[in-house]
Amino acid sequence: MRLLIKNAQVVLPDVIERVSVVIDGAQIADIDPASQLSVHDVVDATGLHLMPGVIDDQVHFREPGLTHKEDLATASRACAKGGVTTFLEMPNTVPATITQARLEEKLALAASKSLVNYGFYIGATPDNLDELRHAHRTPGIKIFIGSSTGDLLVDEQEALERIFAETTLPITAHCEDETTVRANAAQLAGTNDVADHSRIRDHKAALIATRRAIDLAHRHRHRFHVLHVSTGAETELLADHRGLITGEACPHHLLFNTDDYARLGTLVQMNPSIKTAADSEQLWQALLDGRLQVVATDHAPHTLEEKRKPYPASPSGVPAVENSLALMLNEVHNGRCTLQQVAHWMCDAPARVWDIVGKGRIAVGYDADLVLVDLERTAEVLNENQITKCGWSPWHGMRLTGWPVRTWVMGHEVFRDGQFHDDIRGREVRFDHARGGYWATS
Ligand code: DOR
Repeated sequence: MRLLIKNAQVVLPDVIERVSVVIDGAQIADIDPASQLSVHDVVDATGLHLMPGVIDDQVHFREPGLTHKEDLATASRACAKGGVTTFLEMPNTVPATITQARLEEKLALAASKSLVNYGFYIGATPDNLDELRHAHRTPGIKIFIGSSTGDLLVDEQEALERIFAETTLPITAHCEDETTVRANAAQLAGTNDVADHSRIRDHKAALIATRRAIDLAHRHRHRFHVLHVSTGAETELLADHRGLITGEACPHHLLFNTDDYARLGTLVQMNPSIKTAADSEQLWQALLDGRLQVVATDHAPHTLEEKRKPYPASPSGVPAVENSLALMLNEVHNGRCTLQQVAHWMCDAPARVWDIVGKGRIAVGYDADLVLVDLERTAEVLNENQITKCGWSPWHGMRLTGWPVRTWVMGHEVFRDGQFHDDIRGREVRFDHARGGYWATS
């Protein structure tokens, strides 16, 4: 099947140009083809922009074990709607993904349920070093240096040293210092004020853990990616470690700050906690000047019933995959960044950080994971329209300008104007770790 997408403004690696794109099967076969080309189908994309599909490298899709919150079918539909064509999922499911066998069970589940492409991290524990050493079919190793949802935690220095010294897969981590968090929590014991979440999981907790992880990566010369950076101070640390370490920001840390607790309460409770408006501003600056490379969601659905429990019984996390691209396109509309920067942070950079084969760009020979976006379209995020199983969004009621309207996964249309092709299945992502990651590629 050959498909021609014509007249879109196409977000190419270096330029946005009005050209036609030919998809042949699962790949991009030609860009700006000769006009007499014969095709089976034509999409007239006049007035729209064509981007690479978003690669979200930090999601929690809850299957197996927590499927009352989300599952791979609902989450991957939410991805398709949001223009996310590939996700990399975290290991804090039940059971946790801490062995190759569990990783492969998840891959099999996704093969039967996911509308978009998928990959799964292997989680570190204090004693699964052998599994981490031999793990494959995975983007890398996830360490919770600081506990969050679930019971994965590696906090002892000796265990961390060995993971960084004795494994070869790229490592990523949740960085909040457990000792600091526990001490702050003890001081604020008995509180029911959710704003205290940012005092318990404070700036110091984030900075200490990120500094510790960067030090480990630096001493062991081990590739490392800092997840969900939430403070300006962490971005300053990252500036000194170009070449080995990468970092990412999440829409919730870019767009919410501690003032939002008054309006949204536990709906904006997440780990790491939201910080001040000045921190959000510094995260933007760090994206714009390249200290942070990736924007990903940390999509972490919990039911509204769970979120409505009084703090601290309320769980941490917010859903975001179906709105992340629209949120960033809205920032393009606001003049905060360019469409090309969004494509870099959400498509090309994550592909390079994780050595993903054939994704992240619109180029001949790359996979036809594509999203058409309408930069003029304005629509409100509404809880009642959310595809995620948890059925709410912290951005409920927000009007955004710039929305994905049509999504292809490996050449197959999976979403178009509110309609899904539920029979389409994504594919397992291939990782070529010999590429050496973000800094070794351009
Ligand atoms: O707020 C969060 N929720 N942060 C995490 O790191 C984990 C996530 C979850 O799984 O609920």
